[in-house]
Amino acid sequence: MITFHKNAFLIQTRHTSYLFHVLPSGHLEHLYYGHTLSGVKSYEKIVSHDRNWITAKAIEVMDANIRAMTPVHSFANGNMISYSDDAESLCLENRCLEMSSFGKGDIREPFIELVYPDGSSTCDFLYDSYVIKDEIEPLETLPSAYDENGISEADHAQQLVMTLKDKKHGTVLELIYSAFPDCDIITRSSKITFVGTEGQDEDAVVTVQRLMSTQVDFYRTGMRMTSFHGRWADEMHRTDAVCDGGKVVNEELAAGESGSRSNPFVMLSNPETTENYGDCYGFNLVYSGDHYEALSCNYVDSSRFVSGIQPTGFAWHLKKGESFESPQAVMAFSRNGFNGMSRHMHDFVRKHITRGSWRDKERPTLINSWEASYFNINQNSLVNLAKAAKQCGIELFVMDDGWFGHRNDDKSSLGDWYVNEKKLPGGIEALANKITELGMLFGLWVEPEMINEDSDLYRAHPDWAVQIPGMHHSKGRNQMILDLTRTEIQDYVISSMKKVFSSGKVSYVKWDMNRIFSDRYSTALSPEKQSEFMHRYYMGLYRIMGELTKSFPEILFEGCSSGGNRFDLGILCYFPQIWGSDDTDPICRQSIQTGYSYGYPGITVGSHVSGSPNHQTLNVTNLDTRFIIASFGCLGYELNLCDLSDKEKAEIKEQVDFYKKWRGVLQFGDYYRLGDGRCMVVSKDKKKAVGMVLQRDRFPNRDMDIFKTKGLDNDTFYHMTNYVNKLSLKDFGSLINTMTPVHVKENGIVQKIADKVVRMSGEKEDISATGGIFNECGVHLKTAYGGTGYSEDTRVMRTGDARLYVFEAMDSQYKI
Ligand code: GLA
Repeated sequence: MITFHKNAFLIQTRHTSYLFHVLPSGHLEHLYYGHTLSGVKSYEKIVSHDRNWITAKAIEVMDANIRAMTPVHSFANGNMISYSDDAESLCLENRCLEMSSFGKGDIREPFIELVYPDGSSTCDFLYDSYVIKDEIEPLETLPSAYDENGISEADHAQQLVMTLKDKKHGTVLELIYSAFPDCDIITRSSKITFVGTEGQDEDAVVTVQRLMSTQVDFYRTGMRMTSFHGRWADEMHRTDAVCDGGKVVNEELAAGESGSRSNPFVMLSNPETTENYGDCYGFNLVYSGDHYEALSCNYVDSSRFVSGIQPTGFAWHLKKGESFESPQAVMAFSRNGFNGMSRHMHDFVRKHITRGSWRDKERPTLINSWEASYFNINQNSLVNLAKAAKQCGIELFVMDDGWFGHRNDDKSSLGDWYVNEKKLPGGIEALANKITELGMLFGLWVEPEMINEDSDLYRAHPDWAVQIPGMHHSKGRNQMILDLTRTEIQDYVISSMKKVFSSGKVSYVKWDMNRIFSDRYSTALSPEKQSEFMHRYYMGLYRIMGELTKSFPEILFEGCSSGGNRFDLGILCYFPQIWGSDDTDPICRQSIQTGYSYGYPGITVGSHVSGSPNHQTLNVTNLDTRFIIASFGCLGYELNLCDLSDKEKAEIKEQVDFYKKWRGVLQFGDYYRLGDGRCMVVSKDKKKAVGMVLQRDRFPNRDMDIFKTKGLDNDTFYHMTNYVNKLSLKDFGSLINTMTPVHVKENGIVQKIADKVVRMSGEKEDISATGGIFNECGVHLKTAYGGTGYSEDTRVMRTGDARLYVFEAMDSQYKI
């Protein structure tokens, strides 16, 4: 709900308020963003549109509130700049502002930096007008959040457009706010237009050196910024830094993609905020290119947060009548710690970012050919893999890299999107038919943004690759990038992909992008416009993704960039899920997925069970652990099922069946990090839940463990059981000799035979209690193996072991 009273604007969601007003000078002063300022009753009155409740008394109260929130500076401070003779005591440096720029006294991090045709760079944007809209208007040039007009009026999203003008230079700045009350999200974006002034040269150009997406000022210092960093196959490590003075920056400077080095999602919190208690702000950008998030503070009084396109290396040129829009920033606030904020972000991503026919559908379990056989594929081997997958109950078969051109390694053929008939006689159609005849869906891998020097496409159009004429081009994974700033190259990508996607019954596409940018340049752009290259690339890419997802609405698209190198809300506006990391080691994956969970729901993260020893770490883990960790994302398998024993395949079948039963909860429920590698997901109606424990290191003589949940209904009676882990005789090594009459040699024939015959399973939990007991006190799990004693019901919990617990609400007769 967005309301306007006198000069003040209130953006209200269910549990948050955002307030600013127009100063007499025309500047927009930020007053507050955080926990709701009104009680539930006044919120309901506000959204009821019943103007009668606004009595003279209520107006008096509102006026008093705004006065009380407005800082009082009666004189200009020290050596600060007075804005004008008429507003002598107004120093922009010590006010919280909705947007700031250089040149008029605000010497802090700017929201906008322009160079005007006369070479000056002082901006003075003052309030002109506002519009409140009942519909969310999408951005014109970039993807943005949408609303399907909430179920109730209270949940209806609205938009506020504030127009500011710098009259001297004929520039107009629009600040666009949208409120998504149902998930406590406010978005912001901005648009600059060069209108021009009378008598000005018709060729005049305004250079936009930065245009941020959001700016939030706080009357406090010492906030903690949390950001997520890493590199290939090692994404999303959480890092915290408190800003007491100076600046804390999270940025992707020059990779040219949102990046594994620094994800655009960040949090601001009090240093004492924990997972479940305390104030926490979450910020993200609907953008896939280089980005910048900075928290700065001037040592006393205030802090400023900005986020938007990375200004380094960026400049955009506006002729008269032209505009430039910034990507949309997403903002969440919760008083219930990181977990509370994450749940708002998760709901928002699921309802207002991801879209299309797959948005609300349970995602299919899949088998991917990559770690099963890498480039070594052919129709026979793929069909055999699919058959084995089918036996395990897997629903979707994905052919990864290696099916096109003459691609037998990563050195060639990107750009040549026609099938290698030697590997796939009859092409994609024949293979897709064989897979669908098995009763499975068929999907494939593409990397459409790329080109190899060794490709027919490069031989025909060498100038289509991004490169600086006359200079050698540095490569990444042996490949170059297509210049997607050019419409004819975008058109080529669209038409070649349309051919691939309609060459058989294709239900799924993995869209990869395996290098970062170097040697940025487009031969189609004039020298002064080269600083627009990176942003134009993304405008081109979004056009391609938009066209293809519109043309193939039934295809499930999964984004990928050497794993999670472009995991962001821009991609998620088109593709509802993204491959989380090329690291499939479950222990590493648990940390990576926990990193994603702060800003992204599990349903957006592709997550696979792979072979052991793991191909990225050579770590050995058991199949149960691999399954349990992967089931908190969109579950897939990526190993050669044909090489597994019948016993292992039967186990996978059991896993897949189990997952199918619980994926509705896992993919659409409320997520809670429980600390220490544990987490759980609770269905929206709180009738079902799934919890997880990972044992990172194991010590003897620690037989007790308490599983303490979050999110269950305290008054509901639940029955908790577990996915029963598998054990084998071999797991006990030579210890088995303490029980057997004959000596069993490790890896000897007796052990091998006994291992095949004796089926062992782990403990079975069977605990019933109210949600209050599970949430507040925790329940005692079965005795863990601790070096002395063992029975069938012992919880064997070695380093790297995991458990999956499920909860079902009992009949309502048990309701307290
Ligand atoms: C990237 C992806 C992998 C796989 C390979 C294929 O590395 O992240 O999952 O698709 O490309 O070349």
